[in-house]
Amino acid sequence: MRLSAVCCLQILSATAFAHVATRPNGIRSESDPQLPLMPALPPSKPSDPQQSQPPPQGRVLISDVMGRDRSINIFASFTRDIASISSRLDSSLENSTVLAPLNSAVERLPRKPWEDPREYDAFGANAYEGGDGKDRAQRNLRRFVEAHVVPASPWAEKEKVKSLLDGDREIWWEMKDGVKVIKPDDIEVQSIASRVGNGEVWILKETRNYA
Ligand SMILES: *[C@@H]1O[C@H](CO)[C@@H](O)[C@H](O)[C@H]1NC(C)=O
Repeated sequence: MRLSAVCCLQILSATAFAHVATRPNGIRSESDPQLPLMPALPPSKPSDPQQSQPPPQGRVLISDVMGRDRSINIFASFTRDIASISSRLDSSLENSTVLAPLNSAVERLPRKPWEDPREYDAFGANAYEGGDGKDRAQRNLRRFVEAHVVPASPWAEKEKVKSLLDGDREIWWEMKDGVKVIKPDDIEVQSIASRVGNGEVWILKETRNYA
């Protein structure tokens, strides 16, 4: 099975550009003229110093911290490539627990996350080239990322949830010998990389098998 190096480079370079292009909007500030100025807040009384303070600024979101830990930066770049995921992780209205596999786990996969052996069977070695090929790769990458995002945080021990992947089976986690383990696949959580306003980023030692 050949690796689609061309596709890989395109995705990675698209990521790099998207990242640069979206950064200025990623900085949340009341002084940003593009953002509405909290219309839901009642008018503050100027006499009350507590009330006249602006609300806390720069509330940290998963999108702000995903790229910080280099050990998961392959997965972080995938999340930025999928519009529905990147907007979710950039929203304070929806919480998520991101199950980010280590770079080494993604690299150990027998194929790239955007490759599907059935598509190689159906379309041959060029399955991921050309416009349709790119669409296939993008769709497969989205499924991979969705399978690693739980639409809940906090996520309680033994609480059964489904990832964002349509039709996915239930997963939960348990403590085993002081380590969080994602069930039923027994994937160890190496650490919790971040806890921020709209959820948490957990670092997984393996990728989920969701096919
Ligand atoms: C979202 O996460 C924050 C931070 O952990 C928490 O305070 C809040 O209650 C969560 N909201 C929901 C709806 O779970």
